[in-house]
Amino acid sequence: MPAGRYVALALTLALGACAEEGGPAGRGRQIYMAQCISCHHSDPSKDGPLGPAIKSSSRELLEARIVRGTYPPGYRPKRGSAIMRPMPQLASAIPDLAAFLK
Ligand code: HEC
Repeated sequence: MPAGRYVALALTLALGACAEEGGPAGRGRQIYMAQCISCHHSDPSKDGPLGPAIKSSSRELLEARIVRGTYPPGYRPKRGSAIMRPMPQLASAIPDLAAFLK
């Protein structure tokens, strides 16, 4: 393989790593830190002051809970309370939040 190919490959990998930081998961992280950690833990795998751990929440769960204030059919909520208000303005951010929480 000519050396140029290695350089191209290295660049691709480096760019890929950057895309990971600022990409969907990075954007989801920013939204999470801005909108969610008043109640959920800054480490989503831990219970927060008000809200439960939400690491690995599915996109369906996030969309139902955040946009509509409901749960997907058949889903058993971690808490029986209804403290968290729907945030329909975050509808377009659901894929990013799901990527961050994955
Ligand atoms: C006002 C506090 C508060 C804020 C802000 C908040 N949550 Fe919640 N969240 C809760 C509480 C409390 C629950 C438990 C159910 C309930 O009482 O509403 C919950 C439940 C959830 C659930 C369901 C967990 C399960 O599996 O049953 C998800 C998912 C979730 N929150 C995600 C988020 C995300 C993502 C954000 C930010 C965009 C957020 N929440 C912002 C308090 C909050």
